[in-house]
Amino acid sequence: MRANVTLEKITALAKRRGFIYPTSEIYGGLGSSYDYGPLGSELLRNIRDLWWRELIHKRTDMIGLDSQILLHPQTWVASGHVDEFNDPLVEDKVTHRRYRADFLLEDWLKKHPQPEQLSVEELDIDRIGELLVKFDIKSPEGNPITEPKKFNIMFETAIGTVTGEKNTLYLRGETAQGIFTNFKQVLDSTRLQLPFGIGQIGKSFRNEITTGQFIFRTLEFEQAEIEYFFDPEKTDWRTLFNNWQQTMWDFVVDHLGISHENLRWRRHTDKERSHYSQETYDLDYIFPFGFKELWGIAYRTDYDLKRHIQFSGRSLEYTDPRTGRNFIPHVIEPAAGINRFLLMVLCDAYREDSENQRTVLSLKPTLAPYKVAVFPLLKNRLELVEKAHSVFDALAGVLPSTWDERGNIGKRYYYQDEIGTPFCVTIDFQTLDDDSVTVRERDSMQQVRIGIGQLLSYLQQHLANG
Ligand code: GLY
Repeated sequence: MRANVTLEKITALAKRRGFIYPTSEIYGGLGSSYDYGPLGSELLRNIRDLWWRELIHKRTDMIGLDSQILLHPQTWVASGHVDEFNDPLVEDKVTHRRYRADFLLEDWLKKHPQPEQLSVEELDIDRIGELLVKFDIKSPEGNPITEPKKFNIMFETAIGTVTGEKNTLYLRGETAQGIFTNFKQVLDSTRLQLPFGIGQIGKSFRNEITTGQFIFRTLEFEQAEIEYFFDPEKTDWRTLFNNWQQTMWDFVVDHLGISHENLRWRRHTDKERSHYSQETYDLDYIFPFGFKELWGIAYRTDYDLKRHIQFSGRSLEYTDPRTGRNFIPHVIEPAAGINRFLLMVLCDAYREDSENQRTVLSLKPTLAPYKVAVFPLLKNRLELVEKAHSVFDALAGVLPSTWDERGNIGKRYYYQDEIGTPFCVTIDFQTLDDDSVTVRERDSMQQVRIGIGQLLSYLQQHLANG
């Protein structure tokens, strides 16, 4: 982790420059909820598109899906979420406010390090309860707390306007279930043969209590999930699992531009694994608040399809086209959060260049919200502005571009550095004479003079290399 990156700095830059705002700020905000501003929405889109391109479009064994947020409520009974999707909560005995038991313990341990290494993520609810008592941990208000209890985090809602009988629905807690419930329809309509995967990006919702980790954990978030189906008699699950781990690692390092020393794998203990999983690893990134899950991979076996067969009474089996054998496929699931990718990308790209007194977001060009900024040297000289507009128009149809004519050139450069724009192009008086412009690169601050005729190919070549 680079020195000097704090969550406060990232949060401040994100708000100041329009990446991320608190939701409903005019009403005092809504806990654990954020909106993505003009730059944040571009960055999210770039991350999403990259994931889709690399993991779906470039592979012959992957296809996409876009299922609903609201699914038949039986889906969540069958999947086990209604019974098992729980967080451990304690209650302040005086204020009756609720807190995540594991987070209280984690915060306390940060302030009171123990000789034995305790990894709270790996503890079950009973052990967390024991330690809360042993260390006499209080609520953040300093009051006694209850023992931890499991609290279901599925978001309930209801369908229809009629009062009386309540027709409970759930906002989906994972996109994965839309994939499982569509498995047979996808199979029948595509005639894909195992092994193959279905990928989906979309919003999911969890009624979670969070602890000021910005967009790391929010009530509403965007998942990018893959369910990779295979025949367990033909494919060794461990080999497939390891191959997907490598794919995940490579995507984060090569495509999101993350330093590999800021990543690690962590295996879930038997106690912490989700109810559906036989093996889980997390790819963790070292956020300013420590190593935390970025992208999980789970071996869900045939758990989900089996449960949906049981609850729906429908056959979700696969027939081997060569042998005619009927069976329920098994599944490996790489499941990421697009918002966590974005937070990681901001943290990893953040640089303080004290020599030049500037802050730089050294984003990979593919991720940068704008690839190029176009400036007329002076905004009150019509001939410069007109020329600059013609350059902007020629670039903007091909590369996401931005325009700036405010203040002096130095300030404009620094503004673009802070939002991660790889190149700035300035149109000056020499441009009017010889049709050349100044191109300035973000990280090195080097400037070169390029003819307008070669500008687009110069930028495309350097953006592709970046
Ligand atoms: N589908 C895995 C998860 O939502 O965490």
